[in-house]
Amino acid sequence: MAPVLAEVTTNMNTIARLIDRIPDADLVVLPELCNSGYNFQSQKQALQTAEEISDSRYIKHLLALCRKYNCHIVSGFNEREGDRLYNSAVLVSPGGYLGKYRKLHLFFNELDFFTPGDCGLPVFNIGGCKIGMLICFDWMFPEVWRIMALQGADIICHPSNLVIPGLCQRAVPVHSLINRIFIITANRFGTEGNLTFTGLSLITDPKGEVLCQAGADHEEAVSVEIDIYKARNKNVTVRNHVIFDRRPHEYKKIVEPG
Ligand code: ACM
Repeated sequence: MAPVLAEVTTNMNTIARLIDRIPDADLVVLPELCNSGYNFQSQKQALQTAEEISDSRYIKHLLALCRKYNCHIVSGFNEREGDRLYNSAVLVSPGGYLGKYRKLHLFFNELDFFTPGDCGLPVFNIGGCKIGMLICFDWMFPEVWRIMALQGADIICHPSNLVIPGLCQRAVPVHSLINRIFIITANRFGTEGNLTFTGLSLITDPKGEVLCQAGADHEEAVSVEIDIYKARNKNVTVRNHVIFDRRPHEYKKIVEPG
C-alpha cells in the first residue's frame, strides 16, 4: 500500500479494504509507519499522527480486523510514549494487542523524529508459530536476524518503507537462507515529498526462495501458504546445522561497540 502522510483515517480504510482481499490469511503484515506515513515535514506533524499504544484508535481498528478475519496482524506504528516517538511495529491478535518492537536502527531523517528502540528483540509465540519483528533499515544488521532465529523465531515480519532500489530485496532471501526462517517484508510504494519508496514486498522461505513478490507501484494483498516446520529444520546437510555449527567463542568482536 501507499500510506498517505498524516491521513490516519484514510490509511485505516485502505488497510481494511486490502485485508478484505485475503480473508483467509492467518497472519497479515503491513508496512512501516502505515498509520501515519513516513516523511514528516515537522516534529509537530510526527507527533500529531502518533498514538499511545494503550489509547490508540489505530490499534483498535486492527483489533476489529483481527476479530473479523480471525487473523493476527503486524503493522508499522508511529508510537508515542510521553513526549517520545518510536518507529514501532505492533502485533495484534483476535484476543487483543500482544506486543511491540521498537526500531533499533533509525534511517536518515528518522533520527530527527524518533528515539531508538529500547525494548530488545522479542519473539512472540502466537500458537504453533513464533514470530519476531524488525523494521526496514534493521535489515542491514545480520545480528538482529540471528538473535531472533536463536530465540526460535519461525517467521520474521518486516514492515518497511525502503527507498534504496534493490538492496534489501536482494538481502532478505539471504537472511532467510542463513537463518533458515521465513521472512515477510511488507514494503510500501509511492512518493512522499523527495522520497520514492520501492515496493516489491516479498515472502521468502528457509531455503532463500522467494515465494511471492508484489509489484513496485501499486496496491497488492498477496498470501502464500507455508509449512512452518521448514523453519525448524536447521540442517544444511546431515552433518551441518546453522545454529549448532556456530563458533561463538570466536565472535566476541560482534558484541563490542564499534
Ligand atoms: C527505512 O529504514 N525506512 C529505509
